[in-house]
Amino acid sequence: MSKEIKTVNYGLEKIFEGAQDFLPLLGTDYVEFYVGNAKQSAHFYKTAFGFQSYAYKGLETGSKDSVSYVLKQDKIKLVLTTPLNSSSSINNHIVKHGDGVKVIALWVEDARKAYQETTSRGAKWYMEPFVEKDENGEVVRAGIYTYGETVHMFVERKNYNGSFLPGFREWKSDYNPTPIGLKFIDHMVGNVGWGQMNTWVKWYEDVMGFENFLSFDDKQIHTEYSALMSKVMSNGNGRIKFPINEPAKGKKRSQIEEYLDFYEGAGVQHIAVATDNIIKAVTSLRERGVEFLSIPPEEYYKAVPGRLEEHSHELREDIETLKSLGIMIDADEEGYLLQIFTKPVEDRPTLFFEIIQRMGARGFGAGNFKALFESIEREQANRGTL
Ligand code: FE2
Repeated sequence: MSKEIKTVNYGLEKIFEGAQDFLPLLGTDYVEFYVGNAKQSAHFYKTAFGFQSYAYKGLETGSKDSVSYVLKQDKIKLVLTTPLNSSSSINNHIVKHGDGVKVIALWVEDARKAYQETTSRGAKWYMEPFVEKDENGEVVRAGIYTYGETVHMFVERKNYNGSFLPGFREWKSDYNPTPIGLKFIDHMVGNVGWGQMNTWVKWYEDVMGFENFLSFDDKQIHTEYSALMSKVMSNGNGRIKFPINEPAKGKKRSQIEEYLDFYEGAGVQHIAVATDNIIKAVTSLRERGVEFLSIPPEEYYKAVPGRLEEHSHELREDIETLKSLGIMIDADEEGYLLQIFTKPVEDRPTLFFEIIQRMGARGFGAGNFKALFESIEREQANRGTL
């Protein structure tokens, strides 16, 4: 496999040629958060983001140590888990990291094989293949550690007809805020420590068979004050994309450093969820109280037609509407994309969400990095952490 790093020239037609097929992934299965109060978090994700009640386990289902609420919106499944007593090991995670992502679960045909292929290539085990059964069949799960205390769980559900997992029951609620049109997880970004990006790039190449298809160095991602580096890893079919960030030296503290300080280690920085109508989605999110980073300045929107170049005529959305909602625009050779970033969704300045609509472009909004990071720096300055 070629280890040559392709820089950001958007020569994307060859992006997945180096990816390996020993670990076929069908998609993201679920994302599990460890949180201090799952009941209230579930209410937030329903109310603010339009997720639907889906499945539940807790005291009523015989789960004595922890409670989990599963929320769904189209293909996205979030699991919110809280321990029910002080002896649960989940507490340690919450004490150290605050609310955050513990598990990025990946849907596979064969969880035992996925576990064997990855652990034999050096992955650290989290959970050996484990079979759970109920009247709807069986699910096999197995887990390995990735960066920090974050876990990849392989989920094999081909012999299961139930809705989520054995041990969960359907969760029906009288409170069902309407969905806002979030469709699937586009990518999930990990922040790792100083000098660790290439270690984790190699780990995803060697252990998971992923390929590095885009790279951004600190000359591309910097503002007057701070900088970071990022490499995007993808599996062979392109359904799973994990950019990996590390801080770089700048005049002031990088947002990645701020994350690492408050999360107390490496972890998931943001979850990007795709929509096919970002104007509708962001209008709803704002009405429901979701906080976004500040709207880019006037000059940013004035420069959009020039930045879009040949894709300028393709832009279906009205720039004034995008501006009023703070939605950013970027383009590459294949099309354009629209994106916006929330403020952190918990008190520690750690995890946040991105809403993204791809109109052909397969990049990550490199043209927006400067405006985005200046916006984050304004938040950092308010927090006294710049
Ligand atoms: Fe992103």
